[in-house]
Amino acid sequence: MELANLILELLYDRGEVFFALDELAQATSAGRAQVDEALGELARRGHRFERSPAHGVRLIRPTVLDAYLIERNLPVRHIGRHVICFNETDSTNDTAFASARQAAGEALVVTAEYQRAGRGRLGRKWISPPGTAILASVLLHRQACELPHEALTLAAGLAVAEGIDDAAGISPALSWPNDVVVGEAKLAGVLVEVHTVSGARQVVIGFGINVFSAPPTEQVSGQAICLAEAIGSPWRPASLERIEILRAVLARMERWVAALQSDGAGELHERWCSRCGMINRRLCVQSAGRRFTGRVVDVSPSEGLILLDDDGQRLHFPSATSTVVE
Ligand code: BTN
Repeated sequence: MELANLILELLYDRGEVFFALDELAQATSAGRAQVDEALGELARRGHRFERSPAHGVRLIRPTVLDAYLIERNLPVRHIGRHVICFNETDSTNDTAFASARQAAGEALVVTAEYQRAGRGRLGRKWISPPGTAILASVLLHRQACELPHEALTLAAGLAVAEGIDDAAGISPALSWPNDVVVGEAKLAGVLVEVHTVSGARQVVIGFGINVFSAPPTEQVSGQAICLAEAIGSPWRPASLERIEILRAVLARMERWVAALQSDGAGELHERWCSRCGMINRRLCVQSAGRRFTGRVVDVSPSEGLILLDDDGQRLHFPSATSTVVE
């Protein structure tokens, strides 16, 4: 393994404890000069170190998103095996689509510390200050590209909610079609986009998770929250590693996409609805320029949101063209 990655994983796994430079050299069978060179390379990758003449060196937490640490021993066959981390991009969804030719049918994950033109559903903007969020897009592997948009949107939202649960210990709810929420406030959102290139369908699942800050209310349509705030005091930045949250989300996404391919949407439907606080609530939905009011009876991976209106009619709303209005 490359020396810089070896040193990075030793420092990362040690948490906030210092590593003496001699110990680091010994553990990696490298000379002190090589260790210094490798630390320089890691600094160029965006990692920050605290150095102490008495104690050595440690990684400043939380760290930047790092492809090596994200991929390392991740138990996946597709989603998360190949990761590219950018400092800045227009939109990770666009970067993922643009990489489709190089990825040649493989699943590829693209992340960015900052997006100049991040977007949400229905043409909305998605704004996050640099380094405060998880902004990621998965270019689906070829075998999964035929899965329906509606089901993939539900699978992605559930994966994000469950991944946050696994890695950060809070249990967010789901709000149709693509919101991950804590109470009424939005913590994360997913955006599934489909392109057809030379007759081949390409699918990108993008997701944004507010980790250390939430966009100010004037920039979003409803309330927003970040994980740090949702976890509440006492939380320490060092204990909230975006890498671990992202890894957990990718592992869950792999599971749900594979389940859709092999067993259909039955279990996804059940698990999604058990996290959704909208069932049986009365809602107003806007679709094709009209508003419809009724009681939510189901969220279906094939038909979208199902409302029972006041005349007892069952209405269904696809996520691509409908939105909930309060
Ligand atoms: C929404 O809630 O409307 C969906 C938000 C999706 C935002 C993510 S951030 C990473 C990826 N790149 C984008 O431009 N959008 C998605």
